Amino acid sequence: MNIYSDYVFELEQKVQTIKKQIQIKKNKKIEADFNKYPAVKLAARITSSIDGSILKNSSGSFNAVIELTPSYIDADFTISIFNLAKVLKISPEVITEHIKEQVLSKHDTQIEELNVAFGYLNIKLHKSAFYNSVLQSIIHYGNHYGWSDLHKGEVSLFDYSSPNIAKPIGIGHLRSSVIGQALSNIYEALGYSVIRINHLGDWGTQFGALIYAYMHWVNEVNFKKNSLEELKNLYVRFNSESESDPDLKTQAREIFNKLENKDEFELKLWKKFYDISIEDFRKIYEELNIDFDLFMGESFYDQFVNNIVKDLIKLGIASKEGDNVVFVDSLDNLPSFLLKKNDGSSLYITRDVAALKYRVKTFHPDKILYVVGSEQELSFKQLFAVAKKANYIGSKTKPMHLAFGLITIEGKKMSTRKGSTIALKDVLEEASLRVEKILLDKRKSENGNNYELNFLSRKLGIGAVIYNDLSHSRLSNIDFNWDKMLNLEGSSSIYLLYTYARAKSILRKSNDISDNFPSITGRFIFEESIEYEIAKKMSMFPLVIKSSHDDNSTNKLCMYLEELASMYNSLYASVPILSIENLELKHSRLILTESVATVLRNGLMLLNIPIVEKI
Ligand code: ARG
Repeated sequence: MNIYSDYVFELEQKVQTIKKQIQIKKNKKIEADFNKYPAVKLAARITSSIDGSILKNSSGSFNAVIELTPSYIDADFTISIFNLAKVLKISPEVITEHIKEQVLSKHDTQIEELNVAFGYLNIKLHKSAFYNSVLQSIIHYGNHYGWSDLHKGEVSLFDYSSPNIAKPIGIGHLRSSVIGQALSNIYEALGYSVIRINHLGDWGTQFGALIYAYMHWVNEVNFKKNSLEELKNLYVRFNSESESDPDLKTQAREIFNKLENKDEFELKLWKKFYDISIEDFRKIYEELNIDFDLFMGESFYDQFVNNIVKDLIKLGIASKEGDNVVFVDSLDNLPSFLLKKNDGSSLYITRDVAALKYRVKTFHPDKILYVVGSEQELSFKQLFAVAKKANYIGSKTKPMHLAFGLITIEGKKMSTRKGSTIALKDVLEEASLRVEKILLDKRKSENGNNYELNFLSRKLGIGAVIYNDLSHSRLSNIDFNWDKMLNLEGSSSIYLLYTYARAKSILRKSNDISDNFPSITGRFIFEESIEYEIAKKMSMFPLVIKSSHDDNSTNKLCMYLEELASMYNSLYASVPILSIENLELKHSRLILTESVATVLRNGLMLLNIPIVEKI
């Protein structure tokens, strides 16, 4: 036994536990049935009337995509039947007649009228019936409103965050961390069993350099004070000194070879760097509320690398050149690449091939999602091509690279002195300090007290950093603009949380409400059209979650929550809630308020934004 085998053994134990948990999750009953949500039900009614009439004798079926109508159309929802009409060569008007016959003749309690214009089927509802069914459904599902069983029984494995060890996590790994966490939450909400893996960069020739630098130059005092900072500096020093002294590189390579051969002395140092790094990373993950099932980085797969390389050579996918070099020749027109260097050491992609094979064999996932920057696009194409060709991925598993753009800071490409990146810790610190200042000013002007200022600023600040990332489309570059990020009125998580806290405060002030919740069967009424519009908007929430999954994006969900918040804020500004005399209306408005709070909260939870009840 050596340090490496102990480490591998410990991880394997964890893997066994996870496999058991997946089995349990797969069989767990899921309360929310997607098809029971009011807007989904509505779409299903149209689908089935089309399937049952014009498509009756065909094997195909229609999938109705339901949307809210734009405000200039006098209807509630719309479904495009344009393509259907085109394929069937039947006019949209005739299709609509068929649907009408099927739906309206059955005295549908919700649909009042159907019209068609420009290939769109417009649906007008009996408002009161729909309003009631939406609020009932939100109150019924509560913290799980929007969740569903659409992907029950499926397993998805997320590989995200995955920073390189022996230096502080930089802002460069922020995007992968927050996108990976939010998307994995969304997948979980749709019934998947999710496995979250942190594929740490904890192996490779750079550890030879690091061990060399540590042995020769470490400043023990600095190392004690801030180990990761010192390790980073050591590595930087190695790179600059080895430029003028190439012999250093040879020595580093020898050290890494020893590490690959599991030499006790090198392993000990490596494990020391590993443990220090994980301990530091965990603190950040805790603040960001990110939770991995496994920290299983590149080093774990070192044990498989030699066999995989041999196997790929045997399969004719890889070839040997000279004593050590092994490369994969062009596959699918991709450039050829190395699996082993001339000193016999493996590369990043070699370990990724081993990881992919291991994951498929161990967890049988339906999907493996790699949340990694777009600059690695080629590497993932090569990885997937090799793994497919070698049959390491069966037809069941779909590997996907979920790429994302760069982070810039106030318009400029991010880098400080000599390319070293900004530590994520410092960014979170700055965010909370800035929020603290904003809250202080606001409270001063409102003569408020300084209720939980530190605590709130930290949470709001971290949430704002996360939200800034998630509210942009994944592939675009995102800019770190503090003013925009911390804008209380606009596109920020702080705006959403203010709205949420406002709703909660109204609910706290009304006593009648919480007692009545469990037994709500009564009818809800509304007076203003905005109340009805809010309910309609909320009925779309389960569909927004579904489409976030379908295109692996979070920005539409953010936009949706902002729109809902703004609708609720205009309701709040224009009508009384707590002071209405009509008790039935008051009760209904409180239920509407509770429903808005529920949807905002559920949405923020999916995005992994820390929630505050009171600001
Ligand atoms: N450590 C890599 C980096 O920082 C990311 C790893 C992503 N995951 C993977 N399986 N390659 O760039």
